[in-house]
This record gives sequence, structure tokens and C-alpha cells, in this order.
Amino acid sequence: ARDVLTPKDLAGRHVLVTAGPTREYLDPVRFVSNPSSGKMGFAVAERAVARGALVTLVSGPVSLPAPSGVTLMNVESAVQMRDAAMSVFGAADLVVATAAVADYRAAEPSNEKQAKTQGDAVIHLVPNPDILAEMGASKERRVLVGFAMETHAGVERAAGKARRKNADFILLNYPAREGSGFGGDDNEVTLVRPSGESEAWPRMSKRAVAERLLTAALEAYIQRNS
Ligand code: CTP
Ligand code: CA
Repeated sequence: ARDVLTPKDLAGRHVLVTAGPTREYLDPVRFVSNPSSGKMGFAVAERAVARGALVTLVSGPVSLPAPSGVTLMNVESAVQMRDAAMSVFGAADLVVATAAVADYRAAEPSNEKQAKTQGDAVIHLVPNPDILAEMGASKERRVLVGFAMETHAGVERAAGKARRKNADFILLNYPAREGSGFGGDDNEVTLVRPSGESEAWPRMSKRAVAERLLTAALEAYIQRNS
């Protein structure tokens, strides 16, 4: 009822969102992960439903309630996130990849808790699949939006990622900036296109960032498919 006045401009569109961190287990009680809260992705899913979309949210471990009306697929590892996301990718029109996917996983995760040994320890890590790049390789009609957090050369690095992953645009943010990035309720992002063209958005709530990015993604979708 809260959204009765929201224009349903995403009606008939299927929006796939990835969110949260992934966990890469070393043994049954230890993992490599990151502090992603999932708030940005959950906000995108919530606003997309409010605008009439069919929404699938593939999320790593977060402590947020599923927005009502969203199909939530809970995963832990990057490989599980890839498998879940790819299982719905075929039906998706817009993809928003907010997940902070761990870049590596243990080469040989142990089934038993590892006891400490004398001296230093070395963990052998192998690269995880790049979910957004995999989608970009068979993009067709779809619009793909990524997120990137950079500490330096942000626009240049984000544009490079957009090109490599065949994303339509990347929303760039910086960890150090107040009111931006991990955990908070606000975000300050710059939209970066593959060309390197960029547009800095003012600091706003993650909900407002979600609205604006969905509008930009829908515009790109209409342009591509008309
Ligand atoms: N991404 C993904 N799968 C991965 C890594 C990243 O789908 N294995 C997506 C993220 O969800 C995000 C975008 O790619 O939308 C950019 O993530 P980022 O970590 O900045 O990109 P990387 O290619 O991993 O670059 P870096 O080496 O800087 O971490
Ligand atoms: Ca990464």
C-alpha cells in the first residue's frame, strides 16, 4: 500500500540483484570474507519491486530481512553465488551486481578444523569465477550494472572494469569517504561508463541511489531494445 503512488515503470521486467559478501571456507569454522552489509543490493531489490519488477535477489550472508515480494536466494560462496545467479540470468532483463564477491577461495578447503602449527602459515588461494564478466560474455538484450570500490584512480579503474566485464556502467565509490561504501545507510557514487565518461552523484540514501540507478538502467534497456 505504501507504494501505490509509485509509477510501475519496471512492470514486466525481471531484475536480478547480487548482494552482500561471499564466504570462502578454509575449514568448517573459518572463512575469508569482507564487511559488505548487503544494504545497497537490498535497497535496489526493494525499489525494483516497488516499481513493478519481478525481482530475484541472490545474497551472501547478511543480517537483513528479505524485502517483501522479492525472491531471495541465499548463498555463501562465490561459486554458489555464480550458480544461483546464472540459473536466473536467462530470464533477467536488468542485472545489478552489488555483491562484494571474494576474489579467491581456498585451493583445498579442509573438512576438519585445522589445528595451529609452529611458525607461519600459508594459505593457497585460487581465483573465483567473475560473475559479472560471465554475464557480460552473453549479455544480449540485458543491461548490466556493477559496483566498484576503489582507493585510487577510481574513474579509470572503474571504466576498465566496465569494458572488461561488458557492463553498461559501474557505480564507483571510495571506502575512505564519509557516508559512502560499506555498512552505512548513505552512499556517494560516481556513475562510470565504459568510455570513461563519468557523472558524480551527490551523497544520498542507498534507497535514492537505488532509484536513480534503476532509472539509468531502464533507460539503457529501452534504448538497446527499441
Ligand atoms: N564481481 C563479480 N564476480 C567477481 C568479482 C566481482 O560479479 N568474482 C562484480 C562485483 O559484484 C561488482 C564488479 O564485479 O559489481 C566489480 O567488482 P570488483 O571487485 O571491483 O572487480 P574485480 O574485477 O574483482 O577487480 P579488483 O581486482 O579491483 O577486485
Ligand atoms: Ca574484486
